[in-house]
Amino acid sequence: KEIVLTGITTSGTPHLGNYVGAIRPAIEASNREDTEAFFFLADYHALIKCQDAERVQQSRLEIAATWLACGLDTDKATFYRQSDIPEISELNWLLTCVTAKGLMNRAHAYKAGVDENVAGEQDADFGITMGLFCYPVLMAADILAFNAHKVPVGRDQIQHIEMARDIAGRFNHIYGSEFFVMPEAVVGESTAILKGLDGRKMSKSYNNTIPLFDTEKKLKKGINKIKTNLLEPGEPKDPNDSTVFEVYQAFATPEQTEEMRQKFADGIAWGEAKKELFELVNGQLGESREKYLELMANPAQIEEVLQAGAAKARARTRDHIKKLREAVGLVNFV
Ligand code: TYM
Repeated sequence: KEIVLTGITTSGTPHLGNYVGAIRPAIEASNREDTEAFFFLADYHALIKCQDAERVQQSRLEIAATWLACGLDTDKATFYRQSDIPEISELNWLLTCVTAKGLMNRAHAYKAGVDENVAGEQDADFGITMGLFCYPVLMAADILAFNAHKVPVGRDQIQHIEMARDIAGRFNHIYGSEFFVMPEAVVGESTAILKGLDGRKMSKSYNNTIPLFDTEKKLKKGINKIKTNLLEPGEPKDPNDSTVFEVYQAFATPEQTEEMRQKFADGIAWGEAKKELFELVNGQLGESREKYLELMANPAQIEEVLQAGAAKARARTRDHIKKLREAVGLVNFV
């Protein structure tokens, strides 16, 4: 069976971008007969971006409830917290020792930190932790611990998956066997990068997100805040340069998308377009939102699900890690 795996960093509240870029395609893939799915909370990764313990804890709960509310079926997918799987940390070290520093120098997340420092006339490494620098190795460990074939993600994660392939290939080469399969990113065309309120990529770090399970009222308010140009009702609008259109498309059927494209050409008023967008998104999320609220009120249930998931995940990776320990020369004497 083809193994599908993906994770979300638990450093904030899940937003529409996480949903269309990762959660929705991942759950769809897990419902196919020919796949085996692994979905997890990347809570070790959260520590790289967020050193506020309460926030990390809250986000873990929110993201767990989100996956379950969106229809993750724990009979079909193994669902766990990264930090519950010690084998991932162990693999992280084995991979760290075959990863070239030069490869990590090229990682976007680290480079962005350096660029920001340089622009602010600070020392290039100011505030950059080894966690940030080595982030792609931990991510490779997440993927390679389960020898995942397919990784559904948004476009921003493609580089990390390419690095996971590099690292896997390096290990295979050094230790002389195909220990790891080469993982591939799966990126949807219309959902590769969903834009946020200000037209930049929707991202926790830019503070421009529309949370997935805001109340109906807040969702409406959020959608109304999406930046638009100054065209008046009746003036034709360019769908290719519109966040409203892009978000609409991410939730619509191809037919609905074409109808909206026509309405843009006919000069639909922004208020009207946003109202249609709200109705579309709210219609699709309403039921899951109810489930989400129920789950958030019952952390014990979520805890139970995640502990069962961790046991399943560990059982799946144990033999693999044992072989890797043997490969590098870490075996018992007798
Ligand atoms: P994170 O938490 O930043 O994002 C989680 C997932 O959501 C996708 N995403 C988006 N997709 C479309 N449009 C957007 N605006 C948008 N914003 C976020 C991301 O691409 C991602 O798929 N390092 C990862 C978490 C991770 C992981 C892994 C993923 C850790 N280990 C192993 C896959 C496999 C991250 O920080 O994603």
